[in-house]
Amino acid sequence: PNGHKDFVKVWCDGCYDMVHFGHANSLRQAKALGDYLIVGVHTDAEITKHKGPPVFNEQERYKMVRAIKWVDEVVEGAPYVTSLATLDKYGCDFCVHGDDITMTADGQDTYKEVKEAGRYREVQRTAGISTTDLVGRMLLLTRNHFRQGCSRFLPTTQKIMQFSDGKPPEPGDRVIYVAGAFDLFHVGHLDFLEKARQHGDYLIVGLHTDPVVNRYKGSNYPIMNLHERVLSVLACKYVSEVVIGAPYSVTKDLVDHFEVALVIHGETPAAPDDDGSDPYEYPKKIGKFKTVSSGNDMTTEKIVDRIIKNHKEF
Ligand code: CTP
Ligand code: C5P
Repeated sequence: PNGHKDFVKVWCDGCYDMVHFGHANSLRQAKALGDYLIVGVHTDAEITKHKGPPVFNEQERYKMVRAIKWVDEVVEGAPYVTSLATLDKYGCDFCVHGDDITMTADGQDTYKEVKEAGRYREVQRTAGISTTDLVGRMLLLTRNHFRQGCSRFLPTTQKIMQFSDGKPPEPGDRVIYVAGAFDLFHVGHLDFLEKARQHGDYLIVGLHTDPVVNRYKGSNYPIMNLHERVLSVLACKYVSEVVIGAPYSVTKDLVDHFEVALVIHGETPAAPDDDGSDPYEYPKKIGKFKTVSSGNDMTTEKIVDRIIKNHKEF
């Protein structure tokens, strides 16, 4: 249908509250249908009116969407109902949404107008992940035994390939290494990765396995399993590569293998390794370690607290 157009602009919109890799995957598919992707994100007031208050405020939500690597532009405060006037205003050819129905407070399909005009395309929702599902997992945290496998998402190598850039560092690139849990990937992580990336050209993120994260976080952490955390981090535009199941301590082998120029950690405390040692002992010893402030005090635990508090209010 767009065979004659040489530049296709695509529109997506939504709440993008607690952004997860399901959202990222829909934006990836949308971008593949054209050349330029504009994402409209609703205000807190608009979301509150139609489906109740969001967990993250609009500034946080705008920032999270802007950092997804398939997004070219974010329109702040986009209307809840998608009109032809909005598509025309931003020069978009059509609107893309997942294959679920979105309703307004009074039961109208929010995409009725663009559907009738033939300016609507559908992409497949990612099965096994949603905000509701994540909230459910957080509420289960109150149980005090570690249970693995509460995720219903089925990770495949194909999904990892679709999310990955697959680009090795260019000759002369300065390689930065950071490691962590990156559970429920949030604005604090995002600000941290943005700052870390500024110290080099190629950013590698090491993700610890679920049992390792559970050892130092306790309770039922992590909320997202390793495969899910891999996709969330890969969707971030500052990230070049991910180590799937990185050793807790940054070893000489790892630094040599990836030719790491600098290892960075944020201002949050790093728990000691099994034997009580500092996980950054080696990079510190060779003068390749730096603490970088994200300037953001968001943590996974704070999100969980917000959810549990919100839940009690309803
Ligand atoms: N989306 C998706 N796969 C998911 C979750 C969301 O493809 N597992 C898509 C939606 O279909 C929509 C876009 O992400 O096109 C953003 O919509 P938003 O209103 O933020 O998402 P919700 O459908 O409310 O997502 P969730 O239930 O996770 O909050
Ligand atoms: O806690 P987690 O292992 O997910 O943190 C990953 C990295 O992000 C760590 O270096 C941590 O210090 C950093 N971070 C940050 N600011 C936040 C949250 C995390 O700098 N608000």
